[in-house]
Amino acid sequence: MTKITLIKGDGIGPEITDAVVKIIEAAGVKIDWDVQTAGADVIEKEGVPLPDRVLESVKRNKIALKSPVTTPIGKGFRSVNVQLRKELDLYANLRPCYNLPGVKTRYENIDIVVVRENTEDLYAGIERQVDENTAESIKIITRSASTRIAEFAFDYAVKNNRKEVCVVTKANICKLSDGLFLECARETAKKYPDISFKEILVDNCCMQLVQNPNQFDILLLPNLYGDIVSDICAGLIGGLGIAQGANIGKDYAVFEPVHGSAPDIAGQDKANPTAMLMSAIEMLNFTGENKAASRIKNALLKTLEEGIKTADIGGSASCSEFTNAIIAKL
Ligand code: NAI
Repeated sequence: MTKITLIKGDGIGPEITDAVVKIIEAAGVKIDWDVQTAGADVIEKEGVPLPDRVLESVKRNKIALKSPVTTPIGKGFRSVNVQLRKELDLYANLRPCYNLPGVKTRYENIDIVVVRENTEDLYAGIERQVDENTAESIKIITRSASTRIAEFAFDYAVKNNRKEVCVVTKANICKLSDGLFLECARETAKKYPDISFKEILVDNCCMQLVQNPNQFDILLLPNLYGDIVSDICAGLIGGLGIAQGANIGKDYAVFEPVHGSAPDIAGQDKANPTAMLMSAIEMLNFTGENKAASRIKNALLKTLEEGIKTADIGGSASCSEFTNAIIAKL
C-alpha cells in the first residue's frame, strides 16, 4: 500500500481534506495516509508551525497531499508553505489552469500552465527594519535556480505536447535580478528548438491575460509574479475553488490547491473541494494510479456538468453534497 503524507491544514483545510480522502477511498485506491498537522494550532502545543516531524514524514514518504495553512500577516512565524517548499527544495510550482464543464467563465478554451520558481525571489524572507521609517526586503535570483525552473518548464512542454513557453519578468526595471532570470530562460530555450519561446513584461502579461488569455500556453515566472499571475489564471477558469497545484522537487512532491485557508467560510460546509481533488488526481497520476485518477476525474466532471456545484462557482450544493454526488458516480 502506498504511504503518503497528508497535511490537513486549517480553516477549510480539514473539510476539503476529508472530502478528498473519502472520494479516493470510494474509487478503491488504498493509501496508507500518514496524517500530519501543521499551522497555527500546532504552535501552541509544539512551539513552531512546521515541526520537524512533518518534514521527516514527507522525506520518508516522498509524496504529500496538503491542504491550506493560514499564515499570519505582517508578524509571527514564517509561512509554513514557504518553509516547506524551501526545506524540501520543491523548486517547481506547477499550476495548470483550464476550463471545467458547467463552470461559467468569461473566456472559453483556457488552457494555461503556470510554472513558478518556488524557492527564492522576495520569498527568501530576507527582510530588515532599517530604521523606524524604512524596511527593506531582498530579492534573490540565482543562475542555478533560474536555469532549473526554465528547464522544468521546457521539459514539461516537451512531455505534454505543449507548443510555447513565455517567460514573464520585469527585467526592464529589475535589470540585474529579473535580467538574470530572463537570461537563463533565453539560454535554456536554445536547447529546445521545437518549443517556441516568447518574452513578456509582467504588467503587460496581466493585461493580456484579462483581454486575450487564449494566446498563452506555458508561463514561466519568478516566485512573486508566479504567485500573483496564477491567481489571475485561477480567476479566468472560475476561481480559487477549482485551481489545482503541485510543488515538485528532485526528491519530493507536495500536491496542494492554489487557494488559502478561506477563513471567511471555514467550518460552514461551503468550501469547494475541487481544487484539492484536482491536486489529488495529479498526485494519483504521479504515483502511477492513472486509472483511478481518470475515474475520479470523470466523476468530478460529470457532477459539474450536471450543475451540482458549490456556491463559489454559482451552485447551491454544500461541500458534503458535492462530495457525495461525486462518490455516487464512482
Ligand atoms: P484564500 O484563498 O483563502 O481565499 C480567497 C477567497 O477565495 C475567499 O473569499 C475564500 O472564501 C475563497 N475561496 C478560497 N478557496 C475556496 C474554496 N476551496 N471554496 C470556496 N471558496 C474558496 O485567500 P486569503 O483569504 O488571502 O488567505 C487566507 C489564508 O490562507 C492566509 O493566511 C494565507 O496566508 C493562507 N494561504 C495559504 C496558502 C497555502 O496553504 N498554500 C495559499 C494561499 C493563502
